[in-house]
Amino acid sequence: MERLNQDSLKTIDEIVERHREEPGPVIVMLHDVQDSLGYVPFEAMEKIADATGTSVADVYGVVCFYAQFTTSPKGKHVINICLGTACYVKGAQALIDEAMSLTGAEINKTSEDGIFSLDATRCLGACGLAPVCIIDGKVFGNCTKDTITEEISKIKAAEKMA
Ligand code: FES
Repeated sequence: MERLNQDSLKTIDEIVERHREEPGPVIVMLHDVQDSLGYVPFEAMEKIADATGTSVADVYGVVCFYAQFTTSPKGKHVINICLGTACYVKGAQALIDEAMSLTGAEINKTSEDGIFSLDATRCLGACGLAPVCIIDGKVFGNCTKDTITEEISKIKAAEKMA
């Protein structure tokens, strides 16, 4: 397993220290680690377990339960496409296929160049706008293949990709 650099370890230590005395510290620490590092590395789960008297297995269970936590680094740009029932019925799979072919990322993986992460999510709570996708935090309702193509092209242009 690749080791974290000193800066990341220090960040985790600071987060653990900051929230140690708060109620429900595990989830709060995990949120902060996810926000700061973009994912929750195993070392963070160990430190959080240590500081809160929880087992690493329990912390890992929390990480797996909540979709907002990831255990591997995300790409620079994150594309979420809802695969909930309403979105699926309205063609979300075709959007995923398009995004996969344009980014080179597999579902729930990051492209080899580290630029794109493609996540298939559960219902985003906006079924009236199905199909829904979120690209770098921006929500697109009634999303079409053209929307996906256009947004990915903009990102590629900004990243100076061919
Ligand atoms: S199923 Fe996609 S937003 Fe609800």
